[in-house]
Amino acid sequence: MKKDLVSIDDLALESILDYLDLAARVESMSGAEKASLLPGRILATLFFEPSTRTRLSFEAAMCRLGGRVIGFSEAAASSTAKGESFSDTIRTVEQYADIVAVRHPKEGTARLAAEISRVPIINAGDGANQHPTQTLLDLYTIRKFFGRVDGLKIALVGDLKYSRTIHSLCRALLLFEGVSMTLVSPETLRLPKYLMKAAAAATATFRESDSLAAALRECDLVYMTRIQKERFPDLVDYEKVKDSYRLDARMLEGVPGHFKVLHPLPRVNEISPDVDSTPHAGYFEQARNGMIMRQAIILDLLDARPGRSAT
Ligand code: CP
Repeated sequence: MKKDLVSIDDLALESILDYLDLAARVESMSGAEKASLLPGRILATLFFEPSTRTRLSFEAAMCRLGGRVIGFSEAAASSTAKGESFSDTIRTVEQYADIVAVRHPKEGTARLAAEISRVPIINAGDGANQHPTQTLLDLYTIRKFFGRVDGLKIALVGDLKYSRTIHSLCRALLLFEGVSMTLVSPETLRLPKYLMKAAAAATATFRESDSLAAALRECDLVYMTRIQKERFPDLVDYEKVKDSYRLDARMLEGVPGHFKVLHPLPRVNEISPDVDSTPHAGYFEQARNGMIMRQAIILDLLDARPGRSAT
């Protein structure tokens, strides 16, 4: 039966840990070993929304596994521009590719694609809903930096309302033991209530705060996010909150040596470039980990893990 990766909610903790272990194994392999894993296989990247990291890391992942890539980076470059439906696009692309990564502005589109397609579908971000591959690479990055996820104190900062990255990450962190999440956002960009309620059944906890400075003192890592202008129905509301949080190197003076700053990127002005040269900046390594984790995801969904003969 084909597998898809549509929502982080579809993964139990064991499956998440299995992905982290598979990514570590892939990272330890030589380039030649990796390049022998998927010869002749094709990944399609269908991006109806802009992307740098997700699309290019998927494509680099597939190329480095010995496979090939087809696709488009904007709807205007596909027959969507002539009125073709999303369903017909998926039914067509599955004729050409072995696996498909889809990014779309509408929530639920990846689930629809998975229901239609005969080949595995990967959700590369659907509106403000979910970004499960980002979450897996975030967890991989956190475990690499700290050796664990359990028990960490994590500040999530910025656009907690519209960030699909935050929504997926929160759901996953609730599965770990004793994670403490400090939610730092403007009042109008608080985490959705349904996610706050999900904490009731977990040992992880949520606490809301307005203060980035306090979170820096109390947490092991801060996960910054961009205020997502493109998701606001009214740009007047965006103008009111767009500069709510800005982290700079001076604010990091006094944090412990192990403290890390993560960000799914792209950033606008919420992390000053002077943070980049501090030992606390982890976001470019995080972006690199995206390629590694996406290799693991492609291998798993194509049932082509290292050591398993190709089907
Ligand atoms: N983190 C992330 O999804 O980045 P892109 O929008 O550049 O893909």
